[in-house]
Amino acid sequence: MKIGVISDLHTDVTPLNKQILPYIVQAAEKAELNIFILAGDLSPNLLELAKILTVFTESNLNCPKLFVPGNHDIWVIEHPSVTSEKKSQAIAEICRACNFHALGTAPFVLNGIGFCGTIGWYDYSFGRKKYNISEEKYASKQMLGSVWNDLHYAKWSGTDREVAHRFEADLRRQIDSIKDSVSQIIVTTHHVPFQESVHYRGRLPWDFFSAFMGSRGLGEICLKEPLITHALFGHTHMPIRQQLGDVTAICSPVGYLREPPAQGLPSYAAERLTCLEI
Ligand SMILES: [Fe+2]
Ligand SMILES: [Fe+2]
Repeated sequence: MKIGVISDLHTDVTPLNKQILPYIVQAAEKAELNIFILAGDLSPNLLELAKILTVFTESNLNCPKLFVPGNHDIWVIEHPSVTSEKKSQAIAEICRACNFHALGTAPFVLNGIGFCGTIGWYDYSFGRKKYNISEEKYASKQMLGSVWNDLHYAKWSGTDREVAHRFEADLRRQIDSIKDSVSQIIVTTHHVPFQESVHYRGRLPWDFFSAFMGSRGLGEICLKEPLITHALFGHTHMPIRQQLGDVTAICSPVGYLREPPAQGLPSYAAERLTCLEI
């Protein structure tokens, strides 16, 4: 089975992020995939998100397509009274309409291979202990004049810790619900499951904001379940491929294209679409 995964298209951030979309579609079509996975951060705008999903649905990519939202997707910018839970439901409905499987709502099984997923969140477990930063300071999401934008636009009910643990529990439930009927499980999250995948610079405020990359619990779930062979994720805009125990950790982001990539958009798109054979 050939799986293609990519994340962090952020089509609304720069003109290049929009221009690269057809090249991502072409790369996915050419790869002759059996499963295509988008690991979140398409756009905070629902109409734009629907348009992107539709581009893939109307392409020659004739395989099941899975989606987990990213933090930017659940942002509530236009309608501040709407919660991120409500927006997640709206995204799941858009997925259904666009023939994408919303992985956060239920697992997906193809030929005995299980796919489980969640957006995931952060509980500050990736914060560096040496800085002695308090829970309250992390919760403020601000340091030295910089702000983590979830502060303004992510509107979950509950603290970050509660939200992170809620999504971890969702993932655990999905895994438990299919593990007796599959031979292998692929996990997809938007947030980062392993601290080993978090890039620290040894200085603030960078290392402060690294606490918003993900949660340790997501990775512990992946390492504890022997059927899980791959953990796919996004959120950090750096490509990653690491072996952590029996789990291959893969991040395949487009990221913010502020400058044209030296190799050109088609090659960049093909490089950022990770394809794996299992
Ligand atoms: Fe992103
Ligand atoms: Fe993100």
